[in-house]
Amino acid sequence: MLSKKSILDVGDITTEDVMQIMDTADSFTDISKREIKKVPTLRGKTVVNLFFEPSTRTRTSFEVAAKRLSADMINFTASSSSLEKGESIMDTVRTILAMQVDLLVIRHNHSGAVKMVDDMVEIPVINAGDGKHQHPTQALLDLYTIRGRMGKFEGLRVALAGDLLNSRVARSGIALFEKMGMDVSLVAPSMLLPEDFSCFKVYSCIDDVIEDTDILYMLRMQLERQDRKFYPSVDEYSRFLSLDGDRIKRMKKGAVVMHPGPVNRGIEISDSVMGGRKSPYDNVLIEEQVTSGVAVRMALLYHILG
Ligand code: CP
Repeated sequence: MLSKKSILDVGDITTEDVMQIMDTADSFTDISKREIKKVPTLRGKTVVNLFFEPSTRTRTSFEVAAKRLSADMINFTASSSSLEKGESIMDTVRTILAMQVDLLVIRHNHSGAVKMVDDMVEIPVINAGDGKHQHPTQALLDLYTIRGRMGKFEGLRVALAGDLLNSRVARSGIALFEKMGMDVSLVAPSMLLPEDFSCFKVYSCIDDVIEDTDILYMLRMQLERQDRKFYPSVDEYSRFLSLDGDRIKRMKKGAVVMHPGPVNRGIEISDSVMGGRKSPYDNVLIEEQVTSGVAVRMALLYHILG
């Protein structure tokens, strides 16, 4: 049982909740390695993915997670719905609720839209990313990935680098990493740094942290959320904020690179670090994060609906 009915914000998640989710995720990781990747735990439950904004990882992994637990999963996509005919979000939600579903997983491009829905419904809601505000399940899967590699959280040095201004991943991650006792630094130019982050250690170039950090968390340049140009040029951005082959080789032994995806190749991470089918560097954890996402979302569905 988690502390709150819905997961809207990492503030809704206690350290006890985190440990409970991680331990449950361990057992679900084993299920995903079996030949028959399915258990009957949530048979008879119906989960709806209500995505008003594009997604690959979050939407798909919630779907995989629900199906592995035998829940029925319905995918609602805004672009092919009656929203296109002018139906409001609230009326859309009323319509979905009339089908007696058990849980809503919602992504929306407006900060606060997921809370607005949660306020009007009795069933649990999971925030799958709302505007620049929060992406709590991303922070949880990142923690689970870190625990898998490092075996602990306390005292680890994490540096988040890039577009902090427009990043819901950064807002959730920073709060949850701090809650678990990690030492957080930020790497961003002043035009990509929100005012309320000025209490953190802030650097302007990843060279300033690359040799000391345990986790270099590269953020995506959120070009779709930028209503104006924040940086003079991609070349200028890369000079200070891009991870390339020379930089990754300077990281200390055991240090890892993370990124929530999707990666803008050649902007925040170079092609040579990304590689083809996989990165040539085994400390680049981007696919491990995706794998963790399934286990963590299975654990969340289990604790909320089980
Ligand atoms: N990390 C993440 O939220 O990716 P998607 O936009 O593909 O879901």
